[in-house]
Amino acid sequence: MDRLEGPARLMIVSDLDHTMVDHHDPENLSLLRFNALWEAHYRHDSLLVFSTGRSPTLYKELRIEKPMLTPDITILSVGTEITYGNAMVPDEGWVEYLSQKWDKNIVKEETSKFSELTLQSETEQRPHKVSFHIQKDKAQGVMKSLAERLEQRGLDVKIIYSGGVDLDILPQGAGKGQALAYLLKKMKAEGKLPTNTLACGDSGNDAELFSIPDVYGVMVSNAQEELLQWHAANAKDNPKVIHATERCASGIIQAIGHFNLGLNVSPRDVKDLKSTLQISDPRHEVVKFFLSLEKWRRAETERSDPFLSELKASCLPSYTFVHPSGVVKNLLELPDTLQSCYGDKQGKSYRVWVDQISSAQIASSSWLVNFTKWELIDEKRRGCVSTVLLNLKEPKSSEGFVWLHIHQTWVGEVEAKDHTDWVC
Ligand code: GLC
Ligand code: MG
Repeated sequence: MDRLEGPARLMIVSDLDHTMVDHHDPENLSLLRFNALWEAHYRHDSLLVFSTGRSPTLYKELRIEKPMLTPDITILSVGTEITYGNAMVPDEGWVEYLSQKWDKNIVKEETSKFSELTLQSETEQRPHKVSFHIQKDKAQGVMKSLAERLEQRGLDVKIIYSGGVDLDILPQGAGKGQALAYLLKKMKAEGKLPTNTLACGDSGNDAELFSIPDVYGVMVSNAQEELLQWHAANAKDNPKVIHATERCASGIIQAIGHFNLGLNVSPRDVKDLKSTLQISDPRHEVVKFFLSLEKWRRAETERSDPFLSELKASCLPSYTFVHPSGVVKNLLELPDTLQSCYGDKQGKSYRVWVDQISSAQIASSSWLVNFTKWELIDEKRRGCVSTVLLNLKEPKSSEGFVWLHIHQTWVGEVEAKDHTDWVC
C-alpha cells in the first residue's frame, strides 16, 4: 500500500473462489473484463486486495491456473495471514495479535473427538487456522457443541462454515472482516484511509466483510445459501450491501456502477475501441492496444478494421522495439508482422491481459508506461515485463498517442520454440 502516496480512491477487497474467479467459466471472461477495467482506470490510484480462505500454497496454484491480477495486499487463510506486494511480505503485527488466547493443540485435541469432521489437506492447516470438511446437515450441531467445548477449555475462537462444506476454526480476533478492519485502522493512522472501500464475496467466510462500518458490499449473484441467510438475518436493511444480479467479477463491476464508485465500463465491453480514442490516458492506451491485438489475432475484428492503419500512423520509423528475445527491431516492422498474423489464433484459447500498470509523465506530452503483459497461448501462459514510451499526438485535437519505443523482457523461463509466435 506504500505504492500510493495518498489515500486510495477505491479499495476493492475481494474473495477469490466464486467471487473474483468464476470456476464455471472456462474462458474467464468476467475476470478478464475486470482486469482490463482495473488496469486502464483504477490501478494508478486505487488498491486491490484479495481476501481468500486459501493458504499461500493453494493461492499460488490459483494464480497459475487463472488469469488473475497481482493484488497490492493479500489476505490469506480466512483472514489469519496478511501479506503485502508481489513479494508477499507478511504483516508480523497481525501474527502477534492473533497468537493471544489461541492454542492450536487444544483445538486439534477437541476436534478429534468429532467423527463428523474430516481434516482438510495439510497445506490448509495454518498457524492460526484449523480446517475440516463436514456434511451440510451435521454442521450446525457440531459447531454448537464444539464452541461449548472449546470455551470450557479457555479458548476464544471463531467457527466459520463456508461453501456448504468447509469448517474453519480461527482465533476470535481473526477472520476476513477483522483483517480488513485492522488494515483500515492502519491506513487511517497513516492518513491513507481509502475514499471508498468495496467488499466482494460469495460465501460464509465473507459475511464479516459486510459488517465493517463504512464499507460498501456486494454479494455476487451466485452467492451461497449460508451467506444469503446471514444477510437476511443481519444486514437486510443496510443499503450499502447489495446482492448483484451478475455472477462473480461481473457482479463486482455491477456494484462499482451501483454505488457510483467510478467508471464501470470495461475496455473489453467496448465494441469499437476506436470510439474510446478520446480517452487520452496512457494506461488506457496500453490496455486498449493489447485488447485490439487479441481481437485481431482471434479474428474478432474485421480485416478491414482500421487498427493496423492507425498503428502504422502511430509508430514512428527509426524508433526501436526490443523484442523479449533480445532482438532489436524497427518499430515500423510491427504493423507488417501484425498484418500476417490476422486470425492466427481464431478458435483458440488465446488471451492477453496487462498487469501492474504504472506510468510516469516525463515531459509535457510524454509518458513512460511500465507493466507486465501476459498471454495465454495453447493453455500455456507467458509474460514479459514491458516499458513503452508514448507521446501525445500533436495537435491535441487529433487525440491518441504515438508509440516511440517498446522494450520487453521475459518473465521467468520461456522455451526457445515459444519465441516464434511472439508478436509484441
Ligand atoms: C478455502 C481454504 C479452506 C477453507 C475454505 C473456507 O477453500 O482452502 O481451507 O476451509 O476456503 O474458508
Ligand atoms: Mg468464495
